[in-house]
Amino acid sequence: MTVSEPADPADLLAAAHAVRERSYSPYSGYKVGAALRDEAGRIHAAANVENAAYPQGQCAEASAIGVMIAAGGRRIVEALVLADAATGLPSPCGGCRQRLREFMPVDARIHLAGVAEGVIRTVTLGDLLPLSFGPEYLERTSPA
Ligand code: THU
Repeated sequence: MTVSEPADPADLLAAAHAVRERSYSPYSGYKVGAALRDEAGRIHAAANVENAAYPQGQCAEASAIGVMIAAGGRRIVEALVLADAATGLPSPCGGCRQRLREFMPVDARIHLAGVAEGVIRTVTLGDLLPLSFGPEYLERTSPA
């Protein structure tokens, strides 16, 4: 589902552009920036960080979640992912959809943005990750 009247994410877009420029992605050449708005309205942004041992690379969304947690944020109310849209609509990978699910309500907006285009499409986390499993499933479970 595309949300019909998205909030203006200009501040998220600007933050994502700034960090995307600093992406460390020498192997794929695919620079990504992610920006998250937390429950206090603060923006946390970061880029993808690749590694010569390829599986150790980290997506921009994962980096941004780490930045948010380090700054004391605990909830994501809105997110934006930015990349070059020439090869397709930028969109969080499957693993990052689940990472976002930990901190974000399923009805919260995710803006999918291209470097040249700006926001191309706005969806909800639930659109990207239907019937998802999340932290509330474990609320009544005692640690092993
Ligand atoms: N990438 C992200 O940062 N976020 C995504 O959701 C999709 C993929 C990065 C990982 C890797 O550095 C590069 O894009 C190519 O997969």
